[in-house]
Amino acid sequence: MSDPLHNEFAPDSIEARSLRYLINPNSNLADVKRRGPNVHVRAEGVYLWDNQGKQYIEGLAGLWCTALGYGVKELGEVAKQQIEKLAYSQLFTGITNEPSVQLAEMLLNMVPIDAGRVFFGLSGSDANDTQVKLQWHYSNLIGRPERKKIISRWNAYHGVTVVSGSLTGLPPFHKNFDLPIDRVKHTNSPFYYREANEGETEDEFTTRLANNLEDLIVEEGPETVAAFIAEPILGAGGVIVPPDGYYEKIQRVLTKYNIHFISDEVINGFGRTGNLFGCQTMGIDPTTMSVAKALSSAYLPISAVIIPEFMYDVFEKATEETKMFGHGFTYSGHPVAAAVAVRNLELMEEKGVYDHVRDMTPIFQQRLRSFEDHPLVGNVRGEGLIGAIELVKNKSTRESFDAKHAVGVHCMDRCRSHGLISRAVAGDSLAFCPPLIITADQIDEMFSKFEKALDDTLTYVSAIDD
Ligand SMILES: Cc1ncc(COP(=O)(O)O)c(C=O)c1O
Repeated sequence: MSDPLHNEFAPDSIEARSLRYLINPNSNLADVKRRGPNVHVRAEGVYLWDNQGKQYIEGLAGLWCTALGYGVKELGEVAKQQIEKLAYSQLFTGITNEPSVQLAEMLLNMVPIDAGRVFFGLSGSDANDTQVKLQWHYSNLIGRPERKKIISRWNAYHGVTVVSGSLTGLPPFHKNFDLPIDRVKHTNSPFYYREANEGETEDEFTTRLANNLEDLIVEEGPETVAAFIAEPILGAGGVIVPPDGYYEKIQRVLTKYNIHFISDEVINGFGRTGNLFGCQTMGIDPTTMSVAKALSSAYLPISAVIIPEFMYDVFEKATEETKMFGHGFTYSGHPVAAAVAVRNLELMEEKGVYDHVRDMTPIFQQRLRSFEDHPLVGNVRGEGLIGAIELVKNKSTRESFDAKHAVGVHCMDRCRSHGLISRAVAGDSLAFCPPLIITADQIDEMFSKFEKALDDTLTYVSAIDD
């Protein structure tokens, strides 16, 4: 039984019990019920095994997060030591702990924000929720209560909580969830391949998008807009690399209206795009930043929001009167997660992971682009060790397949059968975001498996008659 896509399970199997007891997040629940789950049991480096003993190469680093790869024993040791020493401590009411302080200090030495402050959370979603709450809090405290709107973009993914799900610009996260909330507005996605007008150059496209952003700000009232949020390179919305010049034009508009720039580095951060942060790769000067995922290589859940001192000063001064900065989680600054994140970031340096990404980038990007000529491939995009391959019905007209054929999902399943974990995002784009430690041979192995899956998919679509 090496194919995970079967549905006959013993009643007491993990599969049957998973189907009975779990809610699979971000999944087609009916499909999971029909086909059954795939049970992951162990992983090492860039490889992962399921309970049938089948080996997979990790093409997506879990959910874009296992930067150092799996099975790093030292991170387990650090967690064990910290659990034995101080398993939990809070940051409420002025209490602190060494791992959190150390991690905050390390982060502030890494980020392109001078004299910042760090707020810890557990996930990318809560980091972005915090971002918005801190903007609202700041506006109220500086006597500008009307300054509350946040501008995000279509195709963005910023999480799933009420606010971060509103920031997300993908319909399935809004529809039937009563989102987005009123204070969140969306502007154009910088997706040149899909969103450019006929004959429009990249320069014309980015100018149009900057003009549209300005129009939206003016229409909403510039005094009502607090911040613009962006993943420098968009991830879950299709791995979209904005054209050159885009952020320069966007940032010019934001500066004109004194609107903060929130850089969501949850996927981009810690080397993924070839620099420490995506904002550096894309030439963005952020006001605040959200980080998570690779911060701990996902060994434990932790996220951080980094804000400039001028915002913190306002929060601090206000508490002379209010007596309380009313935001924080039980697990903000969890010492075990923080200790693991500290060691993870140290290991990234010690193992030369950032240099390794720069060495692997041309190999990864060249192999990604080698699929451009395949009859099913409409567009290939990427930067650093992240990329996507978009499958289309017609290469010259860019026509997509009818969603009912689920071509991307079919290709993802074929990848799985060939022992590769990838993911269909934004319809029929297959995403690649391997652990940053992947070697040249493993990149070749990953894309060789993909090649087989793509050919299988070509056979599948050849049988589609509409
Ligand atoms: C850019 C970005 N922001 C935020 C999130 C939300 O993170 P989480 O799933 O940890 O809440 C994600 C998750 O993939 C993400 O890609």
